Amino acid sequence: MKLIAKRLQEAKHVVVFTGAGVSSESGIPTFRDALTGLWERFDPAQLATPEAFRADPSLCWGWYEWRRQKVLQAQPNEVHLAIAELAKHVSKLTVVTQNVDDLHERAGKGVIHLHGSLHSPRCIDCGNAHEAALPSGDLSKHGCRLEPPRCNSCEGYIRPGVVWFGEMLPDAPWTAGLTAADSCDLFFLIGTSGVVYPAAELPLRALGTGATVVHINPVRFEISSQEYFLQGPASAMQALTLEAFGR
Ligand code: OAD
Repeated sequence: MKLIAKRLQEAKHVVVFTGAGVSSESGIPTFRDALTGLWERFDPAQLATPEAFRADPSLCWGWYEWRRQKVLQAQPNEVHLAIAELAKHVSKLTVVTQNVDDLHERAGKGVIHLHGSLHSPRCIDCGNAHEAALPSGDLSKHGCRLEPPRCNSCEGYIRPGVVWFGEMLPDAPWTAGLTAADSCDLFFLIGTSGVVYPAAELPLRALGTGATVVHINPVRFEISSQEYFLQGPASAMQALTLEAFGR
């Protein structure tokens, strides 16, 4: 912790790359944790591809509205807040997230969303953005079917604004993520299983350009043999910020 706190004090550009483990402390489920992960309980082939949406738009829309409702009811946790606090102390901080919630932003730090957002729906046919209304219907449990709204321009169905399996990452966030990884001197990887590409390339890019990479996760696994590993929950980020900069 002391060594990494020192690197934090000296860093010129810090990147924090977050995954579902960061929002789990706000009560938002991860994807792959045993028993509780979304992809342990639901089939991504039925919910997370363009083909699945076209096959059963109401099932998909209802499921994403259920998730969006959960996010709207959640609050940023101490990790989101510690990351926002860190921005006040380091010369430059870029946060790149795979999360599709808005908890970093609500904690006060803008982020690069690699996988889109639950809060930015758009037309599946013409791509026009659609304003997300407050979720309605009985969303107290998953599995409620909800007819998606229709596009004002072309009458196509409105789809969730998240990246699905088989889709490209949106260009601008992906380019910004690569630029950040290539130009930072300290890179944190927090609460992600690191199995979804191309996002999982970012820490490897940072290592490749000589940055120090710090991996925080309660489950021990390596992304390379060169990163520092802090085993424990994402709240280690709060402890590190305190260690480096005090209150
Ligand atoms: P995963 O569910 O794959 O991984 C979550 C990671 O968080 C695991 O490695 C856990 O050990 C770790 N974790 C759990 N609790 C934690 C805590 N309190 N503090 C820190 N870490 C904790 O989620 P992601 O890696 O984010 O794609 O998943 C990547 C992508 O796969 C997601 O963005 C999503 C999914 O398909 C889209 O939505 C497009």
